[in-house]
Amino acid sequence: MDMLLFPVVSTLHTLAAVVWVGGMFFAHLILRPTLMTEEPATRLGVWSRIFPRFFAWVWIAVGILPASGYAMVFVDFGGFAAAGRHVEVMHGLSWVMTALFVFLFFKPYPALQAAVANKDWALGAKHLATIRRIVTINLSLGVLVIIAGVSGRFWG
Ligand code: HEM
Repeated sequence: MDMLLFPVVSTLHTLAAVVWVGGMFFAHLILRPTLMTEEPATRLGVWSRIFPRFFAWVWIAVGILPASGYAMVFVDFGGFAAAGRHVEVMHGLSWVMTALFVFLFFKPYPALQAAVANKDWALGAKHLATIRRIVTINLSLGVLVIIAGVSGRFWG
């Protein structure tokens, strides 16, 4: 059972990281510049239809990451002391990422949806800019966390 736990849990952990950080990478570096040439109504409309689908997956990732992470720390490593510094870095940054996502989900995201429903494109653009700033921070933190997770066993 224990022999199966680490590979399964670690795979789930990595898949959740891929979905969350990969999704932010695609949104920020591919979709955003592509949509820049569109009219505000089209651009904001597309984002307002993309976010509910993406955020549903982010919630799943935000649940799986700490659950699988703590399982690895406590079941496989036997506590944080044995897991190494890279896991502490991952742990700390991961909660910053989660807090930023929860703020984004409950503050600028519903405000963006309301602005789009009211066809208030100027206000919508303002809330989208807040979301973009948060995603920029979370994407950078996510890349750092992945670097720590993957390379940390060699230096942590
Ligand atoms: C409560 C939060 C978290 C905890 C306790 C945690 C814990 C861990 C542990 C114990 C490992 C194995 C390290 C090793 O083998 O030396 C790991 C690996 C990893 N973590 Fe995390 N992690 C957390 C959040 C995150 C987040 C938010 C991401 C990315 C967005 C992430 C991405 C990874 C990756 C890519 C690996 C390498 C693959 C693997 O071993 O599964 N982790 N994490």
